[in-house]
Amino acid sequence: MIGMITRLFARGEPALTEAGPRDAAAIATLHAASFRRGWSDGEFERLLLERNTIAHRAMTGRTLHGFILSRLAAGEAEILSVAVASGRRGRGLARSLLNLHLRRLAGLGASAVFLEVDEDNEPARRLYRRAGFREVGRRPSYYSQGRDRAGAALVLRRDLV
Ligand SMILES: CC(C)(COP(=O)(O)OP(=O)(O)OC[C@H]1O[C@@H](n2cnc3c(N)ncnc32)[C@H](O)[C@@H]1OP(=O)(O)O)[C@@H](O)C(=O)NCCC(=O)NCCS
Repeated sequence: MIGMITRLFARGEPALTEAGPRDAAAIATLHAASFRRGWSDGEFERLLLERNTIAHRAMTGRTLHGFILSRLAAGEAEILSVAVASGRRGRGLARSLLNLHLRRLAGLGASAVFLEVDEDNEPARRLYRRAGFREVGRRPSYYSQGRDRAGAALVLRRDLV
């Protein structure tokens, strides 16, 4: 019976809530599975302990399906990382996380949000384009690790006011 109830809940939509230092280990694991260079639990814990770090998570029960994390300084925010677990991609979860996150950043007084994205990362570029980000800079040959051809980093901006 308990197993059936757990499975029913597991099928539901993940809950989106603020993340904190206790999520560091789960976020580090998902980050490592999503990027070539992972960050350690300790790096995430330090970041999440900082007062100017804002993070959201998507969870079902104790399972983390996605997160987004920014730093806010002098009225401008930078999205440092966003990832969704591979089995949950393509279902609008990153879009929901990003929308919630942008609303929170606006509520905290951010007037603009910046981020860097690999020009070859089509899902991420679509995600940001749909959310109203525009290209304001380009760093050629920025992403080279494990590739034949180094890709450019695009600097994107979205105004919140
Ligand atoms: C980028 C990422 C967070 C998107 O998460 P997601 O939950 O799958 O995204 P969504 O379902 O909300 O879709 C966002 C957009 O990406 C598009 N998309 C999703 N998967 C895609 C794929 N495999 N190829 C092309 N576009 C894709 C969606 O169609 C949507 O665009 P649309 O609104 O124009 O239709 C996810 O792919 C990921 O974790 N990637 C690895 C980490 C990463 O690259 N993070 C971003 C670093 S800047």
